[in-house]
Amino acid sequence: MVDFNQRIIVPSLLASDYSRVGEEARRALDAGGDWLHCDIMDGHFVDNISFGPEFVSAVHRSVPEAYLDVHLMLTRPDRYFSRFVDAGAGGITVHVEADHDVGETLVKIREAGCRPGLTLNPATPFEEVEPFLEQIDLLLVMTVVPGFGGQSFMEKETMPKVEAACAARRARGLSFHIEVDGGIDGETVGTAAAHGANVMVAGTSLFKAPDMASAIAAMRD
Ligand code: DX5
Ligand code: ZN
Repeated sequence: MVDFNQRIIVPSLLASDYSRVGEEARRALDAGGDWLHCDIMDGHFVDNISFGPEFVSAVHRSVPEAYLDVHLMLTRPDRYFSRFVDAGAGGITVHVEADHDVGETLVKIREAGCRPGLTLNPATPFEEVEPFLEQIDLLLVMTVVPGFGGQSFMEKETMPKVEAACAARRARGLSFHIEVDGGIDGETVGTAAAHGANVMVAGTSLFKAPDMASAIAAMRD
């Protein structure tokens, strides 16, 4: 049984130095990061392009022991997720707003040997993900409009959904993680945890910190 009171801190490589991403991944793990977050953007689902499966594979080869938490901001995650499975993803999270059969994509991700995750944007109501909660290992409640690092945490729009997810998990006897992503720092991490999130993705506040190890330690309590 997963202990949801134990925080999982997940540095987001979106904010790392791509010219030496292997070292950056190692630095994040040495600093105490639990998993590594990889943001995949297609320039269509979101207004930015980040990196693809080759990049994830390079990270995997640099830190083969790391659990790679891959967040697909793609219009057609069903077409591309298997390339990230092959690249070494541990978990693959897809958007409920994307253009695919959500239930079927989640089944296929699990069949491929990865942990399926589902996510929703700040403007999307919790009801949109409710039908799929039995199928997932992780629900990501986006705490910014996805596309870019360094934005501000949207507390009012998103914390009620973290609470709803907690309540649904309890009522239905489920055990998915509740992850937050966007604007997470030493302060907002406490707000997210207080509402029931246990997996904390952070890019800017960790990679740009003067000392990543103390920034991660501060996020744990
Ligand atoms: C936003 C991405 C995030 C991003 C968070 O589109 O999904 O994972 O890395 O960055 P920060 O922590 O800088 O808000
Ligand atoms: Zn992300």
